[in-house]
Amino acid sequence: MTEATQTAEPVKAELEGIEIHLLTEGIYQHYGFDFRDYSLPSLKRRIWKRIYAEGLSTVSGLLEKVLHDPACMERLLLDLSVNTTAMFRDPTFYRAFREKVVPMLRTYPFLRIWHAGCSTGEEVYSMAILLQEEGLYERCRIYATDINEAVLQRAKEGIFPIHTMKENTSNYIAAGGHGTFSQYYVAKYDYAMFRESLRDHVIFAQHNLVTDASFNDFNVIICRNVLIYFNSALQNRVQKLFFESMEMFGVLGLGKKETIRYTGVVDSYEILDADEKLYRRIQ
Ligand SMILES: C[S@@+](CC[C@H](N)C(=O)[O-])C[C@H]1O[C@@H](n2cnc3c(N)ncnc32)[C@H](O)[C@@H]1O
Repeated sequence: MTEATQTAEPVKAELEGIEIHLLTEGIYQHYGFDFRDYSLPSLKRRIWKRIYAEGLSTVSGLLEKVLHDPACMERLLLDLSVNTTAMFRDPTFYRAFREKVVPMLRTYPFLRIWHAGCSTGEEVYSMAILLQEEGLYERCRIYATDINEAVLQRAKEGIFPIHTMKENTSNYIAAGGHGTFSQYYVAKYDYAMFRESLRDHVIFAQHNLVTDASFNDFNVIICRNVLIYFNSALQNRVQKLFFESMEMFGVLGLGKKETIRYTGVVDSYEILDADEKLYRRIQ
């Protein structure tokens, strides 16, 4: 490596950092979507994917296009939000929820549950099925939110590709499902249409965890596989939002790789299940 390339690489990285900062700041100021505190490595990967797809070659080029072309912003938004999900994803989480949380929920006459970052809704349908089987669904109101309007639209429809039913069915069984999974949907061509009754108590709405305020007091807040995309300052802020939105003795459920350990709310919760990241507000 020559001396020139040795100095060129850090300069290139520094410039890229400046450009990404300008891009996220521009998006925030113009569209109100705040990606400024998203974790950098995954943000970079997704931005570059969009740069190539748009036939561009620099982050600055993308900034210019995004600011002047809302359709490009829509496309970037889809890239920036990772929407991977599945029904009864991490089945042991749902098993622990049944065993440790459901008995507590039985003591409430009415339940408000918030699924934050619900993506295409598989997580919400899973919870509705679980609560129906436990006889709690009729007393629930489930708020299912995501930053991304396109995934919410699919969640509202409740129609999922039939080929995903194999994994969903084995997850359902591993999660301790009481019935047969196929009783919850009707198969039509390549799709599985989920029973409308599973949506009766669900309100789907756009909500941005970074910029929007709390909108209710909840007995349960589930936010799984969303905070991993945020840096630690943003995780802290979102945990504060959850804490302020949580009833006393309410339950918080996070994803496998997420924790409240390094946040300001750690002393306000007791651990219900350390492996499954289930916590209960105690102060
Ligand atoms: C990987 S999916 C997780 C879906 C589901 N919770 C699960 O665990 O299977 C992450 C979701 O978080 C959403 N998301 C990302 N940033 C968000 C924000 N600031 N506010 C609300 N939702 C956000 C994305 O749109 C995406 O649908």
